[in-house]
Amino acid sequence: MPMIDRSREFALAQDAIDPLAPFRSEFLLPSRTAAIDPAAASRRTDETPAVYLAGNSLGLQPRATRAAIEQELDDWANLGVEGHLHAKHPWLPYHEEIRNDAALVVGASPHEVVVMNSLTVNLHLLMAAFYRPTPARHAIIIEDAAFPSDSHAVQSQIVHRGFDPAISLIRLKPRPGEHTLRTQDIVQTIDHHSSSLALVMLGAVNYLTGQWFDMPAITAAAHRAGAISGWDLAHAVGNVPLALHEIGADFACWCSYKYLNSGPGAIAGAFVHERHLSRTDLPQFAGWWGNDPATRFAMGPEFTPVHSADRFQLSNPPIFSMTPVRVSLELFRRAGMARLRAKSLRLTAYMEGLIDDLNARLAAPAVQIVTPRDPAQRGCQLSLLITPDDARPDAPPDAATVKAAHERLSRHGIIVDFRSPNIIRAAPVPLYNTFLDVWTFVQALEQVIGPNAPVPHT
Ligand SMILES: Cc1ncc(COP(=O)(O)O)c(C=O)c1O
Repeated sequence: MPMIDRSREFALAQDAIDPLAPFRSEFLLPSRTAAIDPAAASRRTDETPAVYLAGNSLGLQPRATRAAIEQELDDWANLGVEGHLHAKHPWLPYHEEIRNDAALVVGASPHEVVVMNSLTVNLHLLMAAFYRPTPARHAIIIEDAAFPSDSHAVQSQIVHRGFDPAISLIRLKPRPGEHTLRTQDIVQTIDHHSSSLALVMLGAVNYLTGQWFDMPAITAAAHRAGAISGWDLAHAVGNVPLALHEIGADFACWCSYKYLNSGPGAIAGAFVHERHLSRTDLPQFAGWWGNDPATRFAMGPEFTPVHSADRFQLSNPPIFSMTPVRVSLELFRRAGMARLRAKSLRLTAYMEGLIDDLNARLAAPAVQIVTPRDPAQRGCQLSLLITPDDARPDAPPDAATVKAAHERLSRHGIIVDFRSPNIIRAAPVPLYNTFLDVWTFVQALEQVIGPNAPVPHT
Protein backbone atom coordinates (compact mmCIF):
# COMPACT_ATOMS: atom_id res chain seq x y z
CA MET A 1 0.00 0.00 0.00
CA PRO A 2 1.53 3.40 -0.91
CA MET A 3 2.24 5.71 2.01
CA ILE A 4 -0.33 8.41 2.43
CA ASP A 5 0.15 11.76 4.09
CA ARG A 6 -2.63 11.80 6.65
CA SER A 7 -1.99 15.29 7.95
CA ARG A 8 -4.67 17.98 7.83
CA GLU A 9 -2.06 20.25 6.22
CA PHE A 10 -1.80 17.90 3.25
CA ALA A 11 -5.56 18.11 2.66
CA LEU A 12 -5.47 21.89 2.89
CA ALA A 13 -2.52 22.04 0.47
CA GLN A 14 -4.44 19.92 -2.06
CA ASP A 15 -7.42 22.25 -1.80
CA ALA A 16 -5.17 25.25 -2.28
CA ILE A 17 -4.01 23.98 -5.70
CA ASP A 18 -7.42 22.68 -6.83
CA PRO A 19 -8.46 24.60 -10.00
CA LEU A 20 -12.12 23.72 -9.34
CA ALA A 21 -12.11 24.96 -5.73
CA PRO A 22 -14.00 28.20 -6.55
CA PHE A 23 -17.07 26.17 -7.58
CA ARG A 24 -17.74 25.22 -3.95
CA SER A 25 -18.82 28.78 -3.20
CA GLU A 26 -21.48 28.51 -5.92
CA PHE A 27 -23.39 26.01 -3.75
CA LEU A 28 -25.38 26.25 -0.53
CA LEU A 29 -23.95 23.79 1.97
CA PRO A 30 -26.15 22.37 4.74
CA SER A 31 -24.98 23.23 8.23
CA ARG A 32 -23.57 20.75 10.77
CA THR A 33 -26.93 20.94 12.52
CA ALA A 34 -28.50 19.34 9.44
CA ALA A 35 -26.33 16.30 10.15
CA ILE A 36 -26.63 16.28 13.92
CA ASP A 37 -30.25 17.35 14.40
CA PRO A 38 -32.01 17.84 11.04
CA ALA A 39 -35.28 18.80 12.73
CA ALA A 40 -33.55 21.88 14.18
CA ALA A 41 -31.94 22.89 10.89
CA SER A 42 -34.96 23.60 8.75
CA ARG A 43 -34.10 27.29 8.75
CA ARG A 44 -30.64 28.11 7.45
CA THR A 45 -28.08 29.51 9.85
CA ASP A 46 -24.60 30.65 9.03
CA GLU A 47 -22.80 28.15 11.23
CA THR A 48 -20.17 25.63 10.15
CA PRO A 49 -21.12 23.56 7.13
CA ALA A 50 -21.61 19.83 7.41
CA VAL A 51 -19.28 17.50 5.58
CA TYR A 52 -21.69 16.66 2.80
CA LEU A 53 -20.80 13.42 1.03
CA ALA A 54 -24.31 12.51 -0.12
CA GLY A 55 -24.30 14.12 -3.56
CA ASN A 56 -24.84 10.64 -4.97
CA SER A 57 -28.25 10.77 -3.32
CA LEU A 58 -29.23 14.43 -3.55
CA GLY A 59 -26.90 17.07 -4.94
CA LEU A 60 -26.62 20.51 -3.37
CA GLN A 61 -28.46 23.66 -4.36
CA PRO A 62 -26.54 26.04 -6.63
CA ARG A 63 -26.81 29.59 -5.32
CA ALA A 64 -28.00 30.75 -8.74
CA THR A 65 -31.07 28.51 -8.74
CA ARG A 66 -33.31 30.65 -6.55
CA ALA A 67 -32.88 33.83 -8.61
CA ALA A 68 -33.40 31.87 -11.83
CA ILE A 69 -36.72 30.50 -10.58
CA GLU A 70 -37.71 33.96 -9.37
CA GLN A 71 -36.95 35.27 -12.85
CA GLU A 72 -39.43 32.76 -14.31
CA LEU A 73 -42.02 33.75 -11.70
CA ASP A 74 -41.47 37.41 -12.60
CA ASP A 75 -41.77 36.67 -16.31
CA TRP A 76 -45.00 34.79 -15.68
CA ALA A 77 -46.32 37.67 -13.55
CA ASN A 78 -45.29 40.36 -16.04
CA LEU A 79 -45.89 38.64 -19.34
CA GLY A 80 -48.54 35.96 -18.85
CA VAL A 81 -48.86 33.91 -22.01
CA GLU A 82 -46.41 36.20 -23.84
CA GLY A 83 -43.66 34.55 -21.77
CA HIS A 84 -43.73 31.65 -24.22
CA LEU A 85 -41.87 33.86 -26.68
CA HIS A 86 -40.69 36.83 -24.63
CA ALA A 87 -39.52 35.51 -21.26
CA LYS A 88 -35.82 36.01 -20.62
CA HIS A 89 -35.48 32.31 -21.45
CA PRO A 90 -38.50 31.84 -23.74
CA TRP A 91 -40.66 28.94 -22.60
CA LEU A 92 -41.59 27.62 -26.02
CA PRO A 93 -38.06 26.44 -26.94
CA TYR A 94 -36.95 26.05 -23.28
CA HIS A 95 -36.00 22.38 -23.68
CA GLU A 96 -33.99 23.24 -26.78
CA GLU A 97 -31.93 25.75 -24.81
CA ILE A 98 -31.05 23.11 -22.22
CA ARG A 99 -30.11 20.26 -24.48
CA ASN A 100 -26.71 21.56 -25.64
CA ASP A 101 -25.42 21.44 -22.09
CA ALA A 102 -27.21 18.16 -21.36
CA ALA A 103 -25.52 16.60 -24.39
CA LEU A 104 -22.09 17.56 -23.00
CA VAL A 105 -22.55 15.56 -19.79
CA VAL A 106 -23.68 12.38 -21.54
CA GLY A 107 -21.42 12.50 -24.61
CA ALA A 108 -24.10 12.93 -27.25
CA SER A 109 -25.17 15.27 -30.01
CA PRO A 110 -27.72 17.82 -28.82
CA HIS A 111 -30.49 16.36 -30.99
CA GLU A 112 -30.01 12.99 -29.26
CA VAL A 113 -31.01 14.27 -25.80
CA VAL A 114 -34.12 15.68 -24.22
CA VAL A 115 -34.79 16.88 -20.68
CA MET A 116 -38.23 15.64 -19.61
CA ASN A 117 -40.29 13.74 -17.03
CA SER A 118 -38.65 11.69 -14.31
CA LEU A 119 -36.29 8.77 -14.58
CA THR A 120 -38.63 5.81 -14.18
CA VAL A 121 -41.19 7.45 -16.49
CA ASN A 122 -38.49 7.83 -19.15
CA LEU A 123 -37.38 4.22 -18.70
CA HIS A 124 -40.95 3.14 -19.40
CA LEU A 125 -41.37 5.46 -22.36
CA LEU A 126 -38.18 4.24 -24.00
CA MET A 127 -38.84 0.59 -23.22
CA ALA A 128 -42.30 1.03 -24.75
CA ALA A 129 -40.52 1.90 -27.98
CA PHE A 130 -37.44 -0.33 -27.79
CA TYR A 131 -38.51 -3.43 -25.86
CA ARG A 132 -40.55 -5.28 -28.47
CA PRO A 133 -40.50 -8.88 -27.27
CA THR A 134 -41.37 -11.77 -29.55
CA PRO A 135 -41.82 -15.43 -28.57
CA ALA A 136 -38.25 -16.02 -29.78
CA ARG A 137 -36.62 -12.86 -28.39
CA HIS A 138 -38.03 -11.60 -25.12
CA ALA A 139 -35.33 -11.66 -22.42
CA ILE A 140 -34.03 -8.65 -20.49
CA ILE A 141 -30.73 -8.65 -18.60
CA ILE A 142 -30.32 -6.40 -15.56
CA GLU A 143 -28.06 -6.37 -12.51
CA ASP A 144 -29.29 -8.45 -9.60
CA ALA A 145 -28.56 -5.39 -7.44
CA ALA A 146 -30.43 -3.08 -9.82
CA PHE A 147 -32.19 -0.14 -8.19
CA PRO A 148 -35.68 -1.35 -7.19
CA SER A 149 -37.46 1.01 -9.58
CA ASP A 150 -35.52 -0.48 -12.52
CA SER A 151 -36.51 -3.97 -11.42
CA HIS A 152 -40.14 -2.90 -11.13
CA ALA A 153 -40.01 -1.17 -14.51
CA VAL A 154 -38.57 -4.11 -16.45
CA GLN A 155 -40.77 -6.67 -14.70
CA SER A 156 -43.89 -4.67 -15.44
CA GLN A 157 -42.84 -4.17 -19.07
CA ILE A 158 -42.40 -7.93 -19.44
CA VAL A 159 -45.82 -8.58 -17.90
CA HIS A 160 -47.40 -5.78 -19.94
CA ARG A 161 -46.22 -7.54 -23.11
CA GLY A 162 -47.71 -10.86 -22.00
CA PHE A 163 -44.45 -12.53 -20.94
CA ASP A 164 -43.33 -13.98 -17.62
CA PRO A 165 -40.52 -12.31 -15.62
CA ALA A 166 -39.64 -15.70 -14.12
CA ILE A 167 -38.60 -16.73 -17.64
CA SER A 168 -37.73 -13.47 -19.37
CA LEU A 169 -35.82 -11.56 -16.67
CA ILE A 170 -32.16 -12.51 -16.23
CA ARG A 171 -30.37 -11.03 -13.23
CA LEU A 172 -26.58 -10.71 -13.20
CA LYS A 173 -25.12 -11.90 -9.90
CA PRO A 174 -21.56 -11.43 -8.67
CA ARG A 175 -19.46 -14.57 -8.16
CA PRO A 176 -19.73 -16.10 -4.67
CA GLY A 177 -17.78 -13.99 -2.18
CA GLU A 178 -17.58 -11.01 -4.56
CA HIS A 179 -19.58 -7.79 -4.46
CA THR A 180 -19.20 -6.52 -7.99
CA LEU A 181 -19.67 -7.98 -11.45
CA ARG A 182 -16.88 -8.97 -13.79
CA THR A 183 -17.17 -7.70 -17.36
CA GLN A 184 -16.28 -11.12 -18.73
CA ASP A 185 -19.19 -12.66 -16.78
CA ILE A 186 -21.60 -10.02 -18.04
CA VAL A 187 -20.50 -10.54 -21.63
CA GLN A 188 -20.66 -14.31 -21.21
CA THR A 189 -24.24 -14.08 -19.92
CA ILE A 190 -25.18 -11.88 -22.88
CA ASP A 191 -23.57 -14.35 -25.30
CA HIS A 192 -25.22 -17.29 -23.57
CA HIS A 193 -28.71 -15.80 -23.96
CA SER A 194 -28.09 -14.26 -27.36
CA SER A 195 -30.85 -16.15 -29.16
CA SER A 196 -33.58 -14.98 -26.74
CA LEU A 197 -32.18 -11.60 -25.69
CA ALA A 198 -34.19 -8.44 -26.43
CA LEU A 199 -32.65 -5.86 -24.08
CA VAL A 200 -29.63 -5.30 -21.82
CA MET A 201 -30.48 -2.54 -19.35
CA LEU A 202 -27.91 -1.83 -16.64
CA GLY A 203 -27.25 1.05 -14.29
CA ALA A 204 -24.03 2.46 -15.77
CA VAL A 205 -22.76 3.08 -12.24
CA ASN A 206 -24.44 0.70 -9.82
CA TYR A 207 -26.24 2.62 -7.09
CA LEU A 208 -25.17 0.29 -4.29
CA THR A 209 -21.61 -0.70 -5.06
CA GLY A 210 -20.55 2.32 -7.10
CA GLN A 211 -19.23 0.00 -9.83
CA TRP A 212 -18.95 1.69 -13.24
CA PHE A 213 -19.54 -0.95 -15.85
CA ASP A 214 -17.57 -1.28 -19.05
CA MET A 215 -20.18 0.48 -21.16
CA PRO A 216 -18.48 0.07 -24.57
CA ALA A 217 -17.90 -3.68 -24.07
CA ILE A 218 -21.42 -4.33 -22.77
CA THR A 219 -23.09 -2.25 -25.48
CA ALA A 220 -21.06 -4.07 -28.14
CA ALA A 221 -21.96 -7.45 -26.64
CA ALA A 222 -25.67 -6.56 -26.57
CA HIS A 223 -25.53 -5.55 -30.22
CA ARG A 224 -23.61 -8.69 -31.21
CA ALA A 225 -26.43 -10.64 -29.61
CA GLY A 226 -28.99 -8.71 -31.65
CA ALA A 227 -30.34 -6.94 -28.56
CA ILE A 228 -31.00 -3.32 -27.63
CA SER A 229 -28.58 -1.61 -25.24
CA GLY A 230 -30.24 0.72 -22.72
CA TRP A 231 -28.59 2.44 -19.77
CA ASP A 232 -29.82 3.93 -16.51
CA LEU A 233 -27.39 6.78 -15.84
CA ALA A 234 -28.79 7.89 -12.46
CA HIS A 235 -25.43 7.43 -10.72
CA ALA A 236 -23.26 8.06 -13.76
CA VAL A 237 -24.41 11.39 -15.16
CA GLY A 238 -22.31 14.27 -13.88
CA ASN A 239 -20.12 11.71 -12.11
CA VAL A 240 -18.16 9.97 -14.86
CA PRO A 241 -17.43 11.03 -18.44
CA LEU A 242 -19.90 9.40 -20.80
CA ALA A 243 -19.80 8.78 -24.54
CA LEU A 244 -23.26 7.50 -25.37
CA HIS A 245 -23.12 8.40 -29.04
CA GLU A 246 -19.69 6.94 -29.62
CA ILE A 247 -20.35 3.63 -27.87
CA GLY A 248 -23.57 3.33 -29.86
CA ALA A 249 -26.00 2.86 -26.95
CA ASP A 250 -29.58 2.72 -28.19
CA PHE A 251 -31.13 4.65 -25.32
CA ALA A 252 -30.37 5.98 -21.87
CA CYS A 253 -32.20 7.82 -19.09
CA TRP A 254 -31.03 9.70 -16.05
CA CYS A 255 -32.28 11.74 -13.13
CA SER A 256 -31.02 15.24 -12.37
CA TYR A 257 -31.23 15.38 -8.59
CA LYS A 258 -27.99 13.53 -7.75
CA TYR A 259 -24.75 14.73 -9.33
CA LEU A 260 -26.69 17.18 -11.51
CA ASN A 261 -27.80 19.20 -8.46
CA SER A 262 -31.21 20.15 -9.84
CA GLY A 263 -33.26 19.54 -6.71
CA PRO A 264 -35.44 16.80 -5.23
CA GLY A 265 -37.42 14.95 -7.90
CA ALA A 266 -35.90 17.18 -10.59
CA ILE A 267 -36.74 16.79 -14.26
CA ALA A 268 -34.86 13.90 -15.81
CA GLY A 269 -33.19 13.32 -19.16
CA ALA A 270 -33.21 10.85 -21.99
CA PHE A 271 -30.90 9.92 -24.85
CA VAL A 272 -31.83 8.14 -28.04
CA HIS A 273 -29.12 7.35 -30.58
CA GLU A 274 -29.47 9.30 -33.80
CA ARG A 275 -29.82 6.11 -35.86
CA HIS A 276 -33.32 5.76 -34.36
CA LEU A 277 -34.43 9.37 -34.60
CA SER A 278 -35.80 9.36 -38.15
CA ARG A 279 -37.35 5.91 -37.93
CA THR A 280 -40.95 5.67 -39.03
CA ASP A 281 -41.42 2.17 -37.59
CA LEU A 282 -40.90 3.06 -33.91
CA PRO A 283 -44.02 2.10 -31.96
CA GLN A 284 -43.58 4.94 -29.50
CA PHE A 285 -46.05 6.70 -27.23
CA ALA A 286 -46.69 10.18 -28.54
CA GLY A 287 -47.79 13.62 -27.41
CA TRP A 288 -47.92 17.03 -29.04
CA TRP A 289 -44.49 18.16 -27.79
CA GLY A 290 -42.95 15.27 -29.74
CA ASN A 291 -44.48 16.52 -32.93
CA ASP A 292 -42.40 18.43 -35.44
CA PRO A 293 -42.54 22.06 -34.17
CA ALA A 294 -43.10 23.16 -37.77
CA THR A 295 -46.58 21.59 -37.72
CA ARG A 296 -47.26 21.34 -33.97
CA PHE A 297 -49.53 24.34 -33.93
CA ALA A 298 -51.41 23.35 -37.07
CA MET A 299 -53.36 21.38 -34.45
CA GLY A 300 -53.97 18.38 -36.70
CA PRO A 301 -54.62 14.87 -35.36
CA GLU A 302 -51.67 13.24 -37.19
CA PHE A 303 -48.44 12.75 -35.24
CA THR A 304 -45.37 13.78 -37.22
CA PRO A 305 -42.39 13.02 -34.99
CA VAL A 306 -39.60 15.56 -34.99
CA HIS A 307 -36.27 13.92 -35.94
CA SER A 308 -34.66 14.38 -32.56
CA ALA A 309 -34.99 12.87 -29.09
CA ASP A 310 -37.73 15.47 -28.60
CA ARG A 311 -40.03 13.06 -30.42
CA PHE A 312 -40.41 11.25 -27.09
CA GLN A 313 -41.63 14.37 -25.30
CA LEU A 314 -45.30 14.13 -24.46
CA SER A 315 -46.16 17.42 -22.84
CA ASN A 316 -45.00 21.00 -22.81
CA PRO A 317 -42.13 21.37 -20.33
CA PRO A 318 -42.71 22.47 -16.70
CA ILE A 319 -40.62 25.63 -16.67
CA PHE A 320 -40.21 26.02 -12.90
CA SER A 321 -38.83 22.49 -12.73
CA MET A 322 -36.67 22.84 -15.82
CA THR A 323 -34.98 25.98 -14.51
CA PRO A 324 -32.78 24.27 -11.88
CA VAL A 325 -31.63 21.82 -14.55
CA ARG A 326 -30.66 24.68 -16.84
CA VAL A 327 -28.76 26.45 -14.05
CA SER A 328 -26.95 23.30 -13.00
CA LEU A 329 -25.96 22.25 -16.50
CA GLU A 330 -24.41 25.68 -17.02
CA LEU A 331 -22.15 24.98 -14.04
CA PHE A 332 -21.13 21.68 -15.61
CA ARG A 333 -20.33 23.42 -18.89
CA ARG A 334 -18.11 25.88 -17.05
CA ALA A 335 -16.36 23.25 -14.95
CA GLY A 336 -16.05 20.71 -17.81
CA MET A 337 -16.41 16.96 -17.37
CA ALA A 338 -12.71 16.37 -18.10
CA ARG A 339 -11.58 18.64 -15.26
CA LEU A 340 -14.24 17.22 -12.95
CA ARG A 341 -13.11 13.68 -13.68
CA ALA A 342 -9.46 14.59 -13.10
CA LYS A 343 -10.30 15.99 -9.65
CA SER A 344 -12.69 13.15 -8.90
CA LEU A 345 -9.98 10.55 -9.51
CA ARG A 346 -7.69 12.29 -7.04
CA LEU A 347 -10.35 12.95 -4.43
CA THR A 348 -11.72 9.42 -4.37
CA ALA A 349 -8.24 7.89 -4.41
CA TYR A 350 -7.42 10.13 -1.43
CA MET A 351 -10.44 8.82 0.48
CA GLU A 352 -9.51 5.25 -0.43
CA GLY A 353 -5.92 5.82 0.71
CA LEU A 354 -6.99 7.30 4.06
CA ILE A 355 -9.40 4.39 4.67
CA ASP A 356 -6.71 1.84 3.81
CA ASP A 357 -4.36 3.64 6.19
CA LEU A 358 -7.02 3.59 8.92
CA ASN A 359 -7.62 -0.14 8.45
CA ALA A 360 -3.89 -0.77 8.62
CA ARG A 361 -3.70 0.96 12.03
CA LEU A 362 -6.61 -0.99 13.55
CA ALA A 363 -6.29 -4.40 15.17
CA ALA A 364 -8.58 -5.83 12.48
CA PRO A 365 -9.71 -4.16 9.25
CA ALA A 366 -12.99 -2.43 10.03
CA VAL A 367 -14.00 -0.81 6.76
CA GLN A 368 -14.32 -2.89 3.66
CA ILE A 369 -14.47 -0.92 0.41
CA VAL A 370 -16.80 -2.87 -1.88
CA THR A 371 -16.46 -0.41 -4.78
CA PRO A 372 -13.88 -1.59 -7.34
CA ARG A 373 -10.29 -0.61 -6.57
CA ASP A 374 -9.70 0.11 -10.25
CA PRO A 375 -10.45 3.84 -10.78
CA ALA A 376 -11.62 3.05 -14.33
CA GLN A 377 -14.44 1.01 -12.79
CA ARG A 378 -15.85 3.61 -10.45
CA GLY A 379 -16.95 7.21 -10.17
CA CYS A 380 -16.57 9.25 -7.00
CA GLN A 381 -18.65 7.07 -4.67
CA LEU A 382 -17.09 4.55 -2.31
CA SER A 383 -19.44 1.99 -0.76
CA LEU A 384 -18.30 0.87 2.66
CA LEU A 385 -19.08 -2.13 4.82
CA ILE A 386 -18.35 -1.32 8.44
CA THR A 387 -17.34 -3.71 11.22
CA PRO A 388 -16.58 -2.14 14.61
CA ASP A 389 -13.17 -2.97 16.00
CA ASP A 390 -14.63 -4.85 18.95
CA ALA A 391 -16.76 -7.16 16.82
CA ARG A 392 -15.43 -10.50 15.69
CA PRO A 393 -13.26 -9.67 12.67
CA ASP A 394 -14.74 -12.56 10.69
CA ALA A 395 -18.35 -11.61 11.45
CA PRO A 396 -20.28 -10.20 8.49
CA PRO A 397 -21.41 -6.65 9.24
CA ASP A 398 -25.09 -6.65 10.06
CA ALA A 399 -27.53 -3.87 9.23
CA ALA A 400 -27.87 -2.67 12.83
CA THR A 401 -24.09 -2.31 13.17
CA VAL A 402 -23.75 -0.32 9.99
CA LYS A 403 -26.78 1.82 10.77
CA ALA A 404 -25.39 2.61 14.21
CA ALA A 405 -22.07 3.64 12.63
CA HIS A 406 -23.99 5.83 10.22
CA GLU A 407 -25.83 7.54 13.06
CA ARG A 408 -22.62 8.16 14.94
CA LEU A 409 -21.11 9.73 11.83
CA SER A 410 -24.07 12.13 11.76
CA ARG A 411 -23.22 13.25 15.26
CA HIS A 412 -19.79 14.20 13.94
CA GLY A 413 -21.43 16.51 11.39
CA ILE A 414 -21.00 14.09 8.48
CA ILE A 415 -23.78 13.53 5.96
CA VAL A 416 -23.39 10.24 4.12
CA ASP A 417 -26.09 7.76 3.32
CA PHE A 418 -26.99 4.31 4.49
CA ARG A 419 -28.42 1.71 2.16
CA SER A 420 -30.03 -1.43 3.45
CA PRO A 421 -28.87 -3.89 4.49
CA ASN A 422 -25.30 -2.90 5.32
CA ILE A 423 -23.71 -0.25 3.10
CA ILE A 424 -22.61 3.31 3.84
CA ARG A 425 -22.10 5.28 0.65
CA ALA A 426 -19.74 8.25 0.69
CA ALA A 427 -19.34 10.36 -2.44
CA PRO A 428 -16.80 13.17 -2.57
CA VAL A 429 -18.24 15.26 -5.38
CA PRO A 430 -15.58 17.19 -7.31
CA LEU A 431 -17.81 20.22 -7.94
CA TYR A 432 -18.14 21.15 -4.29
CA ASN A 433 -16.30 18.73 -2.00
CA THR A 434 -12.80 19.38 -0.72
CA PHE A 435 -9.85 17.28 0.33
CA LEU A 436 -10.51 18.65 3.80
CA ASP A 437 -14.05 17.19 3.66
CA VAL A 438 -12.58 13.79 2.90
CA TRP A 439 -9.96 14.12 5.64
CA THR A 440 -12.61 15.18 8.18
CA PHE A 441 -14.84 12.25 7.18
CA VAL A 442 -12.10 9.66 7.68
CA GLN A 443 -11.16 11.25 11.02
CA ALA A 444 -14.77 10.85 12.12
CA LEU A 445 -14.87 7.32 10.77
CA GLU A 446 -11.88 6.46 12.93
CA GLN A 447 -13.65 7.77 16.01
CA VAL A 448 -16.86 5.97 15.11
CA ILE A 449 -15.34 2.55 14.50
CA GLY A 450 -12.13 2.71 16.48
CA PRO A 451 -11.48 0.85 19.75
CA ASN A 452 -13.20 3.52 21.82
CA ALA A 453 -16.38 3.69 19.79
CA PRO A 454 -19.48 2.80 21.78
CA VAL A 455 -20.88 -0.65 21.07
CA PRO A 456 -24.16 -0.30 19.16
CA HIS A 457 -27.36 -1.70 20.64
CA THR A 458 -28.57 -4.36 18.26
C1 LIG B 1 -30.35 3.77 -10.41
C2 LIG B 1 -31.69 4.41 -10.16
N1 LIG B 1 -32.71 4.10 -10.97
C3 LIG B 1 -33.93 4.63 -10.79
C4 LIG B 1 -34.17 5.51 -9.75
C5 LIG B 1 -35.56 6.06 -9.56
O1 LIG B 1 -35.62 7.37 -9.96
P1 LIG B 1 -36.99 8.22 -10.04
O2 LIG B 1 -37.64 8.15 -8.70
O3 LIG B 1 -36.53 9.59 -10.34
O4 LIG B 1 -37.82 7.62 -11.11
C6 LIG B 1 -33.13 5.87 -8.89
C7 LIG B 1 -33.34 6.81 -7.77
O5 LIG B 1 -32.51 7.08 -6.97
C8 LIG B 1 -31.85 5.30 -9.10
O6 LIG B 1 -30.82 5.58 -8.29
